[in-house]
This record gives sequence, C-alpha cells and structure tokens, in this order.
Amino acid sequence: MIKLEHLVKQYQNQRALDDVSVTFEDNQSTVIVGPSGSGKSTLLRTIDLLTHPDSGTMQIDDITVDFTKEISRKTVRAIRRKSGMVFQNWNLFPHLTVLQNITEAPRTVLKQSKAAAESRAYELLQSVGLAEYAAQYPTQLSGGQQQRISICRALAMGPEFLLLDEPTSALDPELETQVLRILEEIAAKGQAMVVVTHNMEFARLVADKIVFVEDGQVLFAGPVTEFFTTENQRIQNFLAGLSLA
Ligand SMILES: Nc1ncnc2c1ncn2[C@@H]1O[C@H](COP(=O)(O)OP(=O)(O)OP(=O)(O)O)[C@@H](O)[C@H]1O
Ligand SMILES: [Mg+2]
Repeated sequence: MIKLEHLVKQYQNQRALDDVSVTFEDNQSTVIVGPSGSGKSTLLRTIDLLTHPDSGTMQIDDITVDFTKEISRKTVRAIRRKSGMVFQNWNLFPHLTVLQNITEAPRTVLKQSKAAAESRAYELLQSVGLAEYAAQYPTQLSGGQQQRISICRALAMGPEFLLLDEPTSALDPELETQVLRILEEIAAKGQAMVVVTHNMEFARLVADKIVFVEDGQVLFAGPVTEFFTTENQRIQNFLAGLSLA
C-alpha cells in the first residue's frame, strides 16, 4: 500500500498539491482524474520521487519518507524498486532494440542473467502481442506498439505499482483502445496500478478506485460506482464537460 499524507507542493504562484492525503491499495487499480493543471502528474510523480513535495509523508510498505527531510539515496532506490513509471511519450531508448530496452534494467539493476531477462522479456512481449518485434528498433514501431513495449519494460522490473501518466494521450483512438485493453488484462491479473487518464470508459471498466483532483486537492477518493453516481456538483460538471450529450 502507498499512503500519502498531507502533501504540499508549491510552485512560484501555483500550489500543485494542497494538503493531499490519499492511499493506493495493493493489487488494485486506481485512476486519477481531474482538470488540466489540477496536480495529477505532480501527485503521480511524487510516488516515484520524480517530484519532491515541500512537505508531507509517503509510506510504501515498510518505508517512510518525510518530504521535509533529505531522502537518502538508499531510500530513493528502495522506493523506485517498488514502482515502474510509464510515460506519455514512452521514452524508449532509440539506440537499443525492443529486447534490449526491456532487458537493460533487469540485467544492470537486478543483476539478472541475460537468459533469464530475455526469457521474461519474451513472455511479456508475447502478452502484448509483439514477440516478433524483439529485434527491431523503437523508431520502426508505431506509437501504440512503442507504448506497449514501454509497459513491458516497466513490468520487467516486477514493480509493486505500475504508474502511468496519460499513457494513451499521444495515440489515435484505435491504438489507444489496444493499449487500454492490455492494461485491463494486466489489472485483471492483480497488478496494482495508478493511472492518470482522461478516458472515462477505461476508468469505469478497469478502476477499482477513482481519485478526483482539482486545484491541488483531492475532492473524491473512493469506489468507481460511487464516483459516477456522486451528488457532488463539481464532479458532475466535470463528467458532463467530457461528454457531447
Ligand atoms: N516544474 C513546474 N514549475 C512550475 N509549475 C509547475 C511545474 N510543474 C507543474 N506546475 C504547475 O502545477 C500545477 C499542476 O501541474 P500538473 O502537471 O500536476 O497538472 P496535471 O493535472 O497533470 O495537468 P494535465 O492534465 O494538463 O497534465 C499546474 O498549474 C502547473 O502549471
Ligand atoms: Mg499531467
């Protein structure tokens, strides 16, 4: 479980996180939604320590971080071992093949043998339907394929939590659906994930929990069904704003 308490992150004239307390459960998928600029990425990036809040605490399993204090490199490493981040623009290494992209970190960080890392990589590639692309370079693949590879790359490290920041926003609708289907399958296997997305269909079908953020504050954190039937006027307006109806 990831437990965040009283997070505050102040940029020059913008409070990106304004006393945020929220938990992300093991083996569950949580979807973070909210308007642009509300603090979703800041919240997600805090989990991986890519963003350092000014104050507040984070607890992941037996590790506790107090953001008012310096975080040791050992703690940073331990935290990053528990999560795997997938970015909007996938960020694959262009000079490495698909297979090398996936096996790089397991070999250097986890000290896996080449054979073990490659065998796991092929398993993951198989699960996203891309085994035959192992020897290709990222630029030879479509955006949707690259994003599926970057999901494999994150999963190869065996993260407790898969973190995804708008993983499909750079993809056309068909490729978006392909990637979201794969995430649905991964979630169904019990892989915990925290996903920032604007795709409400995905949220409705896959999320166990929804976190709604606005102006740096968590306005709602709870079960999906409750979110879509809430009386909260602000959330109703947000949902209405996403629909043409
Ligand atoms: N490095 C930064 N320097 C200054 N301000 C920042 C920085 N990063 C984020 N902010 C501000 O903090 C607020 C929250 O940003 P954040 O990226 O978390 O929003 P978001 O909900 O992810 O938005 P979007 O849906 O557009 O991705 C925004 O007002 C943003 O301008
Ligand atoms: Mg964002």
